[in-house]
Amino acid sequence: MELKEQSIGVFDSGVGGLSVLTHIHASLPDERLHYVADSAYMPYGCKSDQLVESRCMSIADFFVEQGCKAIVVACNTATAVAVQQLRLKYDIPVIGMEPAVKPAVNSSRAGVVGVLATSATIASDKFKQLGLRHGSEARLIVQACPGLVEQIEMGELNTAKTRSMLQSYLDPLMQAGMDRLVLGCTHYPFVSPLIREIIGEEVTIVDSGDAIARELERQLSANGLLSLANIDAQDESASIVFWSSGDIQKVEPLMSKLWGKATVPNQLLF
Ligand code: DGL
Repeated sequence: MELKEQSIGVFDSGVGGLSVLTHIHASLPDERLHYVADSAYMPYGCKSDQLVESRCMSIADFFVEQGCKAIVVACNTATAVAVQQLRLKYDIPVIGMEPAVKPAVNSSRAGVVGVLATSATIASDKFKQLGLRHGSEARLIVQACPGLVEQIEMGELNTAKTRSMLQSYLDPLMQAGMDRLVLGCTHYPFVSPLIREIIGEEVTIVDSGDAIARELERQLSANGLLSLANIDAQDESASIVFWSSGDIQKVEPLMSKLWGKATVPNQLLF
């Protein structure tokens, strides 16, 4: 098979990257996709940099073995920790996430921007650089959300516990008068209906899923790697292959719910 007809490998610590995969599949429906949820090692946000980096390398090796033509790191935490090393090691395009601070700052009228992210993303040099670049243009209020990824991985998208957790994370941002809220973790769009209920209609929620899909398209096109195939919607189940390193029976119902279709992931054996 020609390289341009090969798959794109997309991964996250768990199901969060499905929020990015949705944008990728909507804008590039003729691309074959592999999605890896590294469920056995989730959450990345409280793991050491060494462990996250080594998982990223193993998953990228796996994608290369599958013949992938590009890799999308659909996880802000993994991007912050490992994207540079991935780009050094592989000569295919590697696209990473970045919290959408720039568009939020540029469009904020109040000049107050809230950011929700994992502790590891917030502690990373990459995130500190982002803050330095844009922190003078608006007041950035950064909030770590311990426990929130785990709630989402348990499928608790709208329970009392998730609500009270979000309320406590969002209260200081609302008190500061934010008018833009950046979702700096790919899991968080799955609780945006609940976030919306808490923050009301006036605050704009910004995430990076759409921008990443556009960047992927740009890089595939620039490298002559856009697929020329015409994948019928009925063939979709064969064109998107799901994998998980966790317990498939546990992961399957949540993946199916979040992807919106019955989805049985294959077992990742490392
Ligand atoms: N979806 C990942 C991110 O964007 C989740 C991190 C985690 O596993 O803690 O950062």
